[in-house]
Amino acid sequence: MDISGFALVTGAGSGIGKACAVSFVEEGAAGVALLDINGKALEDVKEKLTSLSQHEEFQCLSFEVDMRNEKDVADAVQNCARTFGRLDYVVNAAGIAFKNIGGAACAETTDWQRVLDVNLNGTFYCLRAAAQQMLRQSYLESVIDGRSLQRGSIVNIASLAGLVGVTQSTAYCASKHAVVGLTKTTALDYAKEGIRVNAVCPGMIKTPLIVPGSEIERATTDFVKTRTPIGRWGTPEEVANVIVFLCGGRSSLMTGASLSVDGGYTTQ
Ligand SMILES: NC(=O)c1ccc[n+]([C@@H]2O[C@H](COP(=O)([O-])OP(=O)(O)OC[C@H]3O[C@@H](n4cnc5c(N)ncnc54)[C@H](O)[C@@H]3O)[C@@H](O)[C@H]2O)c1
Repeated sequence: MDISGFALVTGAGSGIGKACAVSFVEEGAAGVALLDINGKALEDVKEKLTSLSQHEEFQCLSFEVDMRNEKDVADAVQNCARTFGRLDYVVNAAGIAFKNIGGAACAETTDWQRVLDVNLNGTFYCLRAAAQQMLRQSYLESVIDGRSLQRGSIVNIASLAGLVGVTQSTAYCASKHAVVGLTKTTALDYAKEGIRVNAVCPGMIKTPLIVPGSEIERATTDFVKTRTPIGRWGTPEEVANVIVFLCGGRSSLMTGASLSVDGGYTTQ
C-alpha cells in the first residue's frame, strides 16, 4: 500500500475505524493516533496495536473525544501532529446510524441534529484541522520508488446512503450525501496543494453499528438478502483495505473519488 507515515483515525474504538488502525500498523505506519468517544475501547485497541507493531519506534496515541466538540477535535489533531511531527493520513470513521421511522414528516429535530452533528460536523471539524496541518508540511516520499506523493491524504467514510436514497433514513442519508459533497469540494480546493481527499461508501458491513434486534439490523439484513449482488455482509477489514489503499502511495492519482465498497449494491 506504500504506507510509511503517521495516521489519525476517528471512531477507532470499533468496527471499520478499528480495522483501519490495525491495517495501518500491518502496512508499516510509523505511528497511529486513535480518537473515539469510548475511552475503554481506545485502551483495548491501543494495546492491540502496540503488540502488533514490528516498527521499533512505533508510536500510538489515544484521545477520548466527542467528535461534536469542535475545540476538543482541533486540540487532539494538533496535539497528535505536534507529537508525531506531521500527519500523513486521516480517516474519518466516527459515525452513528439512525432510522427515521415514518420518514421526514415524523423526524424529530433532536434526532436530525444528533446525526448531522456526529456524521457531518464531526467529519468537518477533523478534516479542517487536518488540512491546516497538512498545508504546512512537506510532501511524503514513496517508500517504493522515492517519488513525491502528497502532503497528506484524507479519507472520509460516507455510505451507500451517500450515493443513493435509502428509506426511513432522513438524517443519515442527508449526512452521508453531505460527506460526499464535502469530500469533492475539499479535493478540488487542495488538489494543487498536495492534499488528496477521497471517500468510501460501504454497503452492509457487520460491525457493532448494526445492533442485534434493532430496526437497523432488520432493514440491513433484508438489504443483504434481497439487494446485495454479492449476497453477504462485508467485513470491517474489507473496507479498511480500501481505505488504507486510498491513504497510501498506490492511489497517488486519486482525489475526489467516492468509492463504493458495497458488494455491487449501487451498481443496480
Ligand atoms: N456498518 C455498516 O454497515 C456501515 C455502512 C456504511 C457506512 N458505515 C459508516 O462507517 C463508519 C464506521 O461505522 P462502524 O460500522 O464501524 O460503526 P461502529 O459503531 O462499530 O464504530 C463507530 C465508532 O464511532 C464512535 N463514535 C460514535 N459517536 C462518536 C462521537 N460523537 N465522537 C467520537 N466517536 C464516536 C463509536 O464509539 C465507535 O467506536 C460510520 O461513519 C458509519 O456511518 C457503516
